[in-house]
Amino acid sequence: MPGVLSGVKMMDRVVFRKYGNPLDVLKLERSPEPAEPGSGQVLVRVNKRPIHNGDLLMVDGGHDPIKRPIPASGFSAGCEGVGTIEAIGPGVDDSRGLRVGDRVSFFAVGTWQELILVSADFVTPVPMDLEDDLAAQIFINPIAAMALVRLVEKIAANQKTDVLRIGALEDVVEDLRIAKTEPGVILVSVAGSTVARLAATTLKAKGFSIIGLVRSSSKAAALQQATGNPVIGYDDENWQEEVRKAAAGRKIFVGLDAVGGKIGEDVLGLLSPGGTLVSYGSLTAEPIPVDHVHLCMTAKTVCGIGMVHWTQLPYETRSADVPRLIQMVRDNQDFFKVAGEFPMSSITEAVRLFRSPGRGGTVLLSG
Ligand SMILES: NC(=O)c1ccc[n+]([C@@H]2O[C@H](COP(=O)([O-])OP(=O)(O)OC[C@H]3O[C@@H](n4cnc5c(N)ncnc54)[C@H](OP(=O)(O)O)[C@@H]3O)[C@@H](O)[C@H]2O)c1
Repeated sequence: MPGVLSGVKMMDRVVFRKYGNPLDVLKLERSPEPAEPGSGQVLVRVNKRPIHNGDLLMVDGGHDPIKRPIPASGFSAGCEGVGTIEAIGPGVDDSRGLRVGDRVSFFAVGTWQELILVSADFVTPVPMDLEDDLAAQIFINPIAAMALVRLVEKIAANQKTDVLRIGALEDVVEDLRIAKTEPGVILVSVAGSTVARLAATTLKAKGFSIIGLVRSSSKAAALQQATGNPVIGYDDENWQEEVRKAAAGRKIFVGLDAVGGKIGEDVLGLLSPGGTLVSYGSLTAEPIPVDHVHLCMTAKTVCGIGMVHWTQLPYETRSADVPRLIQMVRDNQDFFKVAGEFPMSSITEAVRLFRSPGRGGTVLLSG
């Protein structure tokens, strides 16, 4: 709903001025439009942007260990979207292939507003065949999946030779030797999520075995059929035994977890000695308790990945990744289905749908 108030052009924007439950603190406001793009920036009119769990963690403060003070104008959440270039700032050279009027996908913080200034480094023209619903989702989840795959490959290639040297317990050392010579099993929580399915599909194609975990056993069979991987519901009291059975004596050398809390702890516990827990999200928003035994006696590692790591890579590396991200979306359109689309004025309904169990798709904000 663009407009002019006392000569200042106004736009709609979803903002928060204090950290808290998104249902309480997110408000739709009329705000002045951004200034002209500065050096290296483009001004994008946003058409659609998804809600991600990370956005809601940003709103409740869970993503920021120091909880930065919120400016008087408020913060806008949202990290990606699709839109149209309205203006291009100085210093954006032709090699970027960006023109006024181009339909573009982009990564930026604060996309839940009509217009946004974005660094040209994080803007890419959208191929004609990629409709807006998909083009709005090419960055966050595909990058997370790509980062997980890269990390797992690195872990697989460097399986703990250092720990082998310092391992104190004979059986642990033996376990580590076996782990080094086997392709290994990866235990994946939130197995039905977009990120997990993208990562698991690629890892499976590279020869890794996957065991999936979901919160509800009622979902396990359908996902097992769709993926061809064993899938276990952790609402079943014997679920950990089921995981061991599915591993069938093979080493579980990596756990990919986005649940956090008790489930993150259990995934860590199920890893074989020398295994690595990779945390990449926290759907429960609860910390993972890490018993020292896992670190001191069974030589496990806990680490994580985040979008922010990718944003720090050199431009050349990131721009080489972009066609791969687009291809991931094209090849796996089923993982990017839309469960609901709402105008920004219906942010509360959109968040409610986002949080409903079994939603089965992305929630988009439009306009
Ligand atoms: N580190 C990064 O850079 C990065 C980037 C992107 C995403 N992520 C994280 O990756 C995770 C998955 O995101 P996504 O967009 O792929 O998910 P998604 O496609 O939106 O799917 C959400 C999944 O989470 C499950 N779920 C929701 N709340 C849960 C809870 N409290 N406990 C257990 N399972 C729960 C849902 O299960 P039901 O079907 O049972 O509802 C569903 O399978 C999120 O934690 C997200 O923050 C991290």
